Amino acid sequence: MTENTQTTQGDAFENLLLEERSFPPTEEFAAHAVAQPSLYEEGKAGPEFWAAQARDLLTWDEDFTQALDFSDAPFAKWFVGGRVNAAYNALDRHVEAGRGDRVAIHFEGEPGDTRSYTYAELTEEVKKASNAFLSLGVEKGDRVAVYLPMIPEAVITMLACARIGAVHSVVFGGFSAEALRNRIDDAEAKLVVTADGTYRRGKPSALKPAVDGALEREGHTVTNVVVVKRNGEPVEWTEGRDVWWSDAVGTASAEHTAVGHDSEHPLFILYTSGTTGKPKGILHTTGGYLTQTAFTHKNTFDLRPESDVFWCTADVGWVTGHSYVAYAPLVNGATQLMYEGTPDTPHQGRWWELVEKYKVSILYTAPTAIRTFMKWGRDIPKKYDLSSIRVLGSVGEPINPEAWMWYREMIGGGSAPIVDTWWQTETGAHMIAPMPGVTHTKPGSAQVAVPGISVDVVDEMGESVTNGSGGYLVVREPWPSMLRGIWGDPQRFKDTYWSRFDNMYFAGDGAKRDKDGDIWLLGRVDDVMNISGHRLSTTEIESALVSHPSVAEAAVVGASDETTGEAVVAFVILRGSAVDDDDIVTTLRNHVGKEIGPIAKPRNILVVPELPKTRSGKIMRRLLKDVAEGREVGDSSTLSDPTIMAQIAQSLRK
Ligand code: WT7
Repeated sequence: MTENTQTTQGDAFENLLLEERSFPPTEEFAAHAVAQPSLYEEGKAGPEFWAAQARDLLTWDEDFTQALDFSDAPFAKWFVGGRVNAAYNALDRHVEAGRGDRVAIHFEGEPGDTRSYTYAELTEEVKKASNAFLSLGVEKGDRVAVYLPMIPEAVITMLACARIGAVHSVVFGGFSAEALRNRIDDAEAKLVVTADGTYRRGKPSALKPAVDGALEREGHTVTNVVVVKRNGEPVEWTEGRDVWWSDAVGTASAEHTAVGHDSEHPLFILYTSGTTGKPKGILHTTGGYLTQTAFTHKNTFDLRPESDVFWCTADVGWVTGHSYVAYAPLVNGATQLMYEGTPDTPHQGRWWELVEKYKVSILYTAPTAIRTFMKWGRDIPKKYDLSSIRVLGSVGEPINPEAWMWYREMIGGGSAPIVDTWWQTETGAHMIAPMPGVTHTKPGSAQVAVPGISVDVVDEMGESVTNGSGGYLVVREPWPSMLRGIWGDPQRFKDTYWSRFDNMYFAGDGAKRDKDGDIWLLGRVDDVMNISGHRLSTTEIESALVSHPSVAEAAVVGASDETTGEAVVAFVILRGSAVDDDDIVTTLRNHVGKEIGPIAKPRNILVVPELPKTRSGKIMRRLLKDVAEGREVGDSSTLSDPTIMAQIAQSLRK
């Protein structure tokens, strides 16, 4: 384990060993569960098990001839020779099967405006968007950058790209113009789809200016920008480049026949932070991704598409919003809720009001949200009828047992099973999760591998640990929805995930097995932070800070935070010239906001005279983390100058 995480991991480990509670499914739930215990046995067949799932869950234009080709490991090919269209599977086939009148998406905007799309209506919109993109010159294989809020057009855009074989690259709206430009350049996007803006906390919030900013500098690959009118705020317009969605899509033909793409045809790129300053473009392809997202959506959530209302609260800018908003629920023919805004607008009961109004039966959200609701108090959810809830999901970071219990009691009526799902942008779909109705759930643990998935906890040498011990989380066998690489950088793919241990995928997480063999996640073991379930890189924020003329050096750590899990704390050494700026901290926070986005702004920036470094020049983040978390500073004997921690402490007291 790297230096900086050892202490926290140790603490987490000790505390979790004390957790002994376990909740069996109710008899009624178990009797009617979608997931059958036999899946675990069947899953042992590996690729053959997945081949059966692929044929059962998807409609193929051409059947595949081989389940898995891993001869060029670690590059995998799943369902070789098969042809499949993601949008056809998410849309047309439900209409053809007579389910066109079922609601696919209930949309609720933050101001309270609503729209519902049936499967027939959504299919028509996606066909129109496909034709619009084609007429703007987008061809199969071209990349399309998507910079949209949580509105149905985001899903429509993603599915239209998939339909015509264009590769979408969704960039979260909380990223800055600079970050958007980097992603546009890396993927060489031809088209950008955006909106004038959205609503945030009751006010209009702009998006289009960031796109304008991103494209200001010459030398990009973008030929058109399609703009959805969402909040009606005035926008700048570049003639010849910018096109209103209502003009491009609104007037397009609703006739479009989907054709199957190769199972390994790229479906999307999604950028995520790694341990270096440059985000990685995680590449996912079609057949395997759709199979595993659909399988897990059905079995982890006990999905009954004819009666459930599924609500995944994640933004489409993150992988959760890809797999469990844009793809799996629609491939499975479910009805889902999509909400644009914040949980406390216009009041702190908004989510529960929505659950009551739409009779949400499966809710999938992040621990950071649950902890926020805990802070707001029990009286708020108590005011609403939440009796429609039957399954609760958690994702993005370890869920602490207190939050788990609160979720179960306050939202789940004391009986709804909680499924804590561990996975990553790279894994594409759930990898570790209990199965409701089968698994006896434990507060704080993701517990067991999904059927057909081979995860393990290993020691430094790559040997499986014994029950009761901790180590590194790995995946031992290729899985259908695994990333197929890093866009444009095959070497980085090998180095990042496949070089730490022989023939195993290294996830970057610490984990332990309890006495029953169940898996508990303990957080990242690398320089990646997890802020409110969003991944941020320490190095990326450090690079942003040192790009400011006032900063000589910077070190960033993730410090534990009661609500957000971790928070960004930065230590900076200023250049002599910067001393005049009274408000250097605000200046630097805004600078990080401009370079990366508001989500990356440090909670605290501490100005220090020096940074603690080893003799080889490596920053000892572990010591800075001690300072940031207000702990006594640990062993600093390997510092090149052992007095530095005292100097830092003194400068902070001033
Ligand atoms: C990292 C992946 C998976 C979608 C959202 C985040 C952490 C994710 C859990 C969980 C403990 C979790 C891990 C992982 N993580 N889910 N249930 N329990 N930790 O996707 O941005 O790719 O981040 O999130 O550290 O490596 P991501």
